[in-house]
Amino acid sequence: MTTPGRLHNLVAIVTGGGSGFGESICAAFAREGARIVVADLNAANGERVARALQAEGGEAEFCRTDVGKSVEMGALVSAALARFGRIDIMVNNAGMSHPNRPMLEVTEEFFDRLYEVNVKSLYLAAVHCVPVFRRQGGGGFINIGSTAAVRPRPGLAWYNGTKGAVILLTKSMAVELAPDKIRVNAINPAIAETPLLTTFMGAPDTPENRARFLASIPLGRLCRPADVANAAVFFADPASEFITGTCLEVDGGRCI
Ligand SMILES: NC(=O)c1ccc[n+]([C@@H]2O[C@H](COP(=O)([O-])OP(=O)(O)OC[C@H]3O[C@@H](n4cnc5c(N)ncnc54)[C@H](O)[C@@H]3O)[C@@H](O)[C@H]2O)c1
Repeated sequence: MTTPGRLHNLVAIVTGGGSGFGESICAAFAREGARIVVADLNAANGERVARALQAEGGEAEFCRTDVGKSVEMGALVSAALARFGRIDIMVNNAGMSHPNRPMLEVTEEFFDRLYEVNVKSLYLAAVHCVPVFRRQGGGGFINIGSTAAVRPRPGLAWYNGTKGAVILLTKSMAVELAPDKIRVNAINPAIAETPLLTTFMGAPDTPENRARFLASIPLGRLCRPADVANAAVFFADPASEFITGTCLEVDGGRCI
């Protein structure tokens, strides 16, 4: 007899599921038996990930979503309910950054979009998911923060600020939503091997440039998508039911 996965029968939405951490979270959740809605602005990547999950025998659907727009987040939640009848976990992973550069070189237009995608998305996820979680008697948010909020690097000022907001919102939401059995946790990854890497470096991904970042990570390597996915499985697993408001560094010791 095979044991059911740790997320057996749970339904998860993963924003930014078409690439990087999100793609890895989708794969790990599906392996543990969850049914997944892959939400992404990039339809080609989101559909590719959903098809790959289906090919492995998982139940998955893609929903093209801009997480900064209320109408689209509402449609995402409706699509998940129409397909699977419930939502147990909302992973707020979609995010972006300005390239590493002096703070005054980031335009106001870019700043507004950055806060829309990285911060307003948490508000919109709450607006559309909390009523569903309350009706169901519980649910969980997993927010992807960053070590940028704990040990900020120069050149990423406004991005760092968005992740600071993610951490404080995680704790604020956790304390307010606890009576509804809604858990809210965050993961703070260190700089990782994803398509965002060169944006954060502000330079090409050469061995010399990598070495500068590796020098600041005691375990001596960059974060990998699977590191973040494993932490997300932990927070989604009902076995962590007593854990809320936790912001977990997955950073090889960067924040020590
Ligand atoms: N890569 C790193 O070094 C690193 C470190 C710490 C935290 N993070 C955070 O991890 C999260 C995932 O980043 P990643 O490194 O996997 O990047 P990525 O670029 O590989 O993936 C991000 C995904 O989000 C999608 N996306 C962007 N804007 C969107 C929007 N408005 N609506 C819906 N989808 C949107 C993109 O299409 C992409 O598929 C982000 O929140 C990022 O800030 C990344």
